[in-house]
Amino acid sequence: MAYRWTNDLTHDDVTPQGAFLNRRQIMAGMAGLGLGSLAGGAQAQDALEPNSWEDVTSYNNYYEFGTGKDDPADNAHLLTTSPWSVTIDGMVDRPGEYDFKDIMAEMTVEERIYRFRCVEAWSMVVPWNGFELADLLAMAGVQDSAKYVAFETLYRPSEMPGTAYRVLDWPYREGLRLDEAMNPLTLMATGIFGKDLPNQNGAPLRLVVPWKYGFKSIKSIVRITLSDQEPPTSWNMSNGREYGFYSNVNPQVSHPRWSQATERRIGGGLFAKRQPTLMFNGYEDEVASLYDGMDLGKFY
Ligand code: MTE
Repeated sequence: MAYRWTNDLTHDDVTPQGAFLNRRQIMAGMAGLGLGSLAGGAQAQDALEPNSWEDVTSYNNYYEFGTGKDDPADNAHLLTTSPWSVTIDGMVDRPGEYDFKDIMAEMTVEERIYRFRCVEAWSMVVPWNGFELADLLAMAGVQDSAKYVAFETLYRPSEMPGTAYRVLDWPYREGLRLDEAMNPLTLMATGIFGKDLPNQNGAPLRLVVPWKYGFKSIKSIVRITLSDQEPPTSWNMSNGREYGFYSNVNPQVSHPRWSQATERRIGGGLFAKRQPTLMFNGYEDEVASLYDGMDLGKFY
């Protein structure tokens, strides 16, 4: 496993006073190298200050461990994450069950500090460690006929108390169009803050699609299937009127039950001002072209 750090600062370097200037200086340097966009799009303008370890690991959505925000932190220790393998199948040249350790031996892990925006209108800034999904797909060899990528979370009721309740049709399923999956921003995260991913955050590997609502970022993945059909996805199956397949962050398109124009940044305290939500969560320059010809004012 190789390490490539696209952000020269780790969380250890981030002090409330110093980080803003340091990060701006580094972003300026990285822009010169043409790395700015990979490191997180509009972050050059708003100097992303990561949330705390405590915020990121104690306020979670992982319904397999319960629907309360603190249930995953309380229960996800029950999950066995080693050994772990990921089946990659469908329209690929080298289908098979890939051992997580073998995957890690091939991948280049880097740090990406991304905005993370939940459809429930809260948000965080998370320093992820991971590799590009495109690199994993290349390992399996995507065939020309493939148009979509489907993902599945582990379904192991003996270790997942939340699955006793049929809040969703388990296993948790998600999907992307192939060009979305191949976008350099699309990450398979294996860590946060330079440490292995905690179970409540989706150990040992989860998807991170920073321009989409958080529910697209499926946790603890055991299967990736390439197909020419748009795959069914859990939240869309559960309530298609409220959760579309695309679910790109868009402040102009309200959820049927609440506005998406603003968000509450976790860790800001009870009386913190809500902040405006950015189009494509701030990654418009990198991803807007994927949706040329689609009416972005419409719910998808
Ligand atoms: N993946 C699985 N398997 N189960 C889930 O309940 N919740 C989703 C997503 N991935 C979820 C999941 C939702 S709604 C969000 S907002 C993010 O995970 C939360 O990620 P975090 O807890 O790391 O912040």
